[in-house]
Amino acid sequence: MPGAPARPRAILVTGALGQIGSELVPALRSRFGDDRVVASDLRTAPPGAPQAAGPHEHLDCTDIAQIQDVIARHDVGTVYHLAALLSASAEAKPQVAWSVNMGSLYNVLEAARRFRCNVFFPSSIGAFGPTTPRERTPQVTIQRPTTIYGVTKVAGELLCDYYVQRFGVDARGLRLPGLISYVAPPGGGTTDYAVDMFYQALRYAHYTCFLAPGTRLDMMYMPDAIRAMIELMAADASRLSHRNAYNVTAMSVAPAQIADEIRRHIPNFAIDYRVDPVRQAIAESWPRSLDDSAARKDWGWRPAFTLEAMVEDMLARLAERLQSADASSGRAAGGRHGPG
Ligand code: NAD
Ligand code: SER
Repeated sequence: MPGAPARPRAILVTGALGQIGSELVPALRSRFGDDRVVASDLRTAPPGAPQAAGPHEHLDCTDIAQIQDVIARHDVGTVYHLAALLSASAEAKPQVAWSVNMGSLYNVLEAARRFRCNVFFPSSIGAFGPTTPRERTPQVTIQRPTTIYGVTKVAGELLCDYYVQRFGVDARGLRLPGLISYVAPPGGGTTDYAVDMFYQALRYAHYTCFLAPGTRLDMMYMPDAIRAMIELMAADASRLSHRNAYNVTAMSVAPAQIADEIRRHIPNFAIDYRVDPVRQAIAESWPRSLDDSAARKDWGWRPAFTLEAMVEDMLARLAERLQSADASSGRAAGGRHGPG
């Protein structure tokens, strides 16, 4: 119709059934409208999943024809490309990790070039390695990771920047730390312990940790991470002195510190340690704390959750979810009232 305003283009989230996508899709839908956000994954959304409450697609990102078809059918203008293998899963299957992490990113960038889409790329603290300065790791520094996950993240950052410079694709990224959340379980990373500990604390008041007590890494509560992704994509391009990817962090903590904080709420919580050498070696190759001053200066990044605030909120919300899951499955309530 002549004069009718152009309908805003849709947002596609790949890997939408994972730990981040389970919260990013509802956040984007509440901000931009249910119909504008297309959730997609290699797995099929179970009935009742929030991702299935709006447009959703079965999409294998290693197949560029599938990506182009979904982008064309939904008139997608922005892709949040989350599909990937995380660090521990990638180390167990390096060839698959290369194919999924690099192959799918290349496909997304190529489709973005053809269909003039913007791209969000989630890099990681895993993009750094043992020769990187480990304290207050600078925005621009040595990046020689020793894991296949890290290799795909550094190569991904470079590939995204290449598409920015060579083809004008608006690609932006964050180097995310370990993410702590209660909606969906983590998908095979080295920082998964920081989520598992809460489930086990509530269920059994006991946790056996696969990293050593003093292994300090950057962490962030999911609401901060979701806000960071959306704020970065909304930022004025002229203010971005970096593209792929910005250091962001909220806290630098070790397993023993999270356990101490949980114990303030669950006094009988006990933790012991059975170190997994593979994940311990990965953790020891990563920074202990990132310098995120470039993100703060360029687009106003500020985390809202400290360790104390995150633990309080996480325990309260996860307890509610476990109780309602128990109620619907007829299971007896565990948790704070459980053994220990
Ligand atoms: P996740 O493992 O929970 O989810 C990944 C999703 O990708 C899964 O649902 C999986 O089914 C899907 N997937 C796998 N192969 C696919 C394919 N070929 N095509 C389409 N979908 C496919 O991961 P997450 O924690 O949600 O992480 C998302 C992104 O953020 C990843 O790139 C990850 O490296 C990055 N990241 C995550 C964290 C974290 O702590 N969760 C930290 C830093 C960076
Ligand atoms: N949480 C992620 C992992 O451990 C970091 O990228 O793999």
